[in-house]
Amino acid sequence: MPEMPPSAKATLTSLPYRLLARHVILPWMLQGVQPTGEGLEIGAGVGAMSAQLLTLFPKFRMVATDYDTELVGMAEQVLSGFGRRATVQRADAARLPFQDGRFDLVLSAAMLHHVIEWDSALAEAVRVLRPGGRLIGYDMLDTVPIRLMHLGEGHTTSLLRSAQLEAALRRLGMIGLQTKAAMGGNVMRFSATKPEPEAAGQP
Ligand SMILES: C[S@@+](CC[C@H](N)C(=O)[O-])C[C@H]1O[C@@H](n2cnc3c(N)ncnc32)[C@H](O)[C@@H]1O
Repeated sequence: MPEMPPSAKATLTSLPYRLLARHVILPWMLQGVQPTGEGLEIGAGVGAMSAQLLTLFPKFRMVATDYDTELVGMAEQVLSGFGRRATVQRADAARLPFQDGRFDLVLSAAMLHHVIEWDSALAEAVRVLRPGGRLIGYDMLDTVPIRLMHLGEGHTTSLLRSAQLEAALRRLGMIGLQTKAAMGGNVMRFSATKPEPEAAGQP
């Protein structure tokens, strides 16, 4: 599986990125959601988002996953201060090694466009959510500026269109779907809930 270039890994560990994650990206993604219980982050990189969530919500627990072994090692260091509230595990988002319905929240931050089988990753995220659990995230969209940004990465990125993502989440039966584009339409946040059995079939 393709790995991120060293420059991108360096960005994920930088102080400016961590500050941006905490003060801008995470509040924008969460839209006021107050996570409780246990969350899963797919494609967690060095665990910057998970670390900020654990800091902001002191009772919340997180399992941070990524398929890149080097980033998993870095995430273990970043999250070591949270003790048993944080677990780090190497996992392919398209084949998650977790039981159905385990998590209260799944976070997907800027990672789906790196997954060629992004629809499998979404299906897996929904599978491991408990009924009533939330999928929250954001991603790059298929626009000219974002394509230019990823020039040279070739087949390792699969930029999404907002309608594709919305349709995929609907097909998976998710409800309460909310999306909002930002940064001139180049990125989109999304949030959706896995229905309780009696609510399945609602819009
Ligand atoms: C742009 S980084 C985002 C990292 C982190 N979510 C954040 O916002 O700080 C994308 C991450 O997705 C990971 N990734 C790509 N494909 C993956 C897959 N199939 N399964 C798990 N992780 C994957 C990469 O290794 C990388 O860490």
